[in-house]
Amino acid sequence: MLPRGGKFKFIVALQGYLAASVTFQAGSHQHHGVIQQLYPQLPTVRGSRPTYLFLRRHTCPDIEGACNEQEEPEDITWCVIHCFTVAMIALSKNNIEGVEMSGTILITGSNRGIGLEVCTQFARDGWRVFACCRDLDSAAALKSLQDAHPRVELIQLDVTDQAQMLSLGEALKGEPIDILLNNAGYYGPKGVRFGKVDRSEWRRVLESNTIAPYMMSETFCDNVAASGHKVIAMMSSKVGSIADNRSGGGYIYRTSKTALNQVVKSLSIDLRERGITVIALHPGWVKTAMGGPGALIATEQSVGGLKKILLEADITYSGRFYDYDGCEIPW
Ligand SMILES: NC(=O)c1ccc[n+]([C@@H]2O[C@H](COP(=O)([O-])OP(=O)(O)OC[C@H]3O[C@@H](n4cnc5c(N)ncnc54)[C@H](OP(=O)(O)O)[C@@H]3O)[C@@H](O)[C@H]2O)c1
Repeated sequence: MLPRGGKFKFIVALQGYLAASVTFQAGSHQHHGVIQQLYPQLPTVRGSRPTYLFLRRHTCPDIEGACNEQEEPEDITWCVIHCFTVAMIALSKNNIEGVEMSGTILITGSNRGIGLEVCTQFARDGWRVFACCRDLDSAAALKSLQDAHPRVELIQLDVTDQAQMLSLGEALKGEPIDILLNNAGYYGPKGVRFGKVDRSEWRRVLESNTIAPYMMSETFCDNVAASGHKVIAMMSSKVGSIADNRSGGGYIYRTSKTALNQVVKSLSIDLRERGITVIALHPGWVKTAMGGPGALIATEQSVGGLKKILLEADITYSGRFYDYDGCEIPW
């Protein structure tokens, strides 16, 4: 176990500042999420924001609208001096509260496929992971992950079971959730063409792919609002893009994701004043039970990209649809 208290917080803060400096020097996007998490959480330390803006501008110049240039210092010397000064102030006054290198993610459909890989990558980074799945008895891979990473908590949740969802909402009341990732999905019958549509299967797919992610967002938005990062993400699919539909068919699955995208857009507007970022994600064509063995990429590659977006996402991302490689997809 790591020691708790001021000394530990100082060490964590110092590591964060150093990581931020190194990130700047390497010109890398890798630790952008760390910087973004650390700086806004240091309101008592004067001068943090200009340093944050400076680092952010030079590590992620492609993100527009986030920097007020007048607040920015001119050169790196200022930043480096600032990093060490703040760390020294923290040591003498022990005034850094609530600084953490990681946060909390809640994810649905976490027992296999993309969801399991999301849990694995966030757990490895030290995140607290609420790993929801509908059948704990057959979640062997998740249990092994929990053995290796005790901050992974296994939770039984069928996303179409409203009573179960509400009771989880009660159980987690007051727990900040930095990222709510609605990942659970069901494809329904394959090869659904005109004239072959099954009404009850369509309802089933809409229930899990469209209605459930909305209900999850309603149930857990207070938890997300209480967190530092405040992101709700929906695992959508490019086949839900109307602009991208060139082959027709796929009525059931396509419409479930198209409707989910509309949920994302409305939530991004309705939750904006609470500072919550709501995004739709496409994981790529991924080798899972759903994607099949002929898919283009492995879960590791897909989730590596998705994780970067999830960590970088701020309110400027809200109401948008992103591919796993960071490119925006037209609705
Ligand atoms: N793979 C791709 O190429 C691809 C492409 C675009 C989008 N996506 C989306 O990415 C997400 C994950 O897909 P995947 O490829 O990892 O699929 P997968 O391997 O088939 O896994 C689906 C996951 O969703 C869970 N799930 C389904 N219905 C559920 C329910 N009612 N309650 C709780 N969990 C439920 C499954 O749990 P059980 O084990 O209990 O069934 C499983 O954990 C889905 O939303 C999918 O639409 C995937």
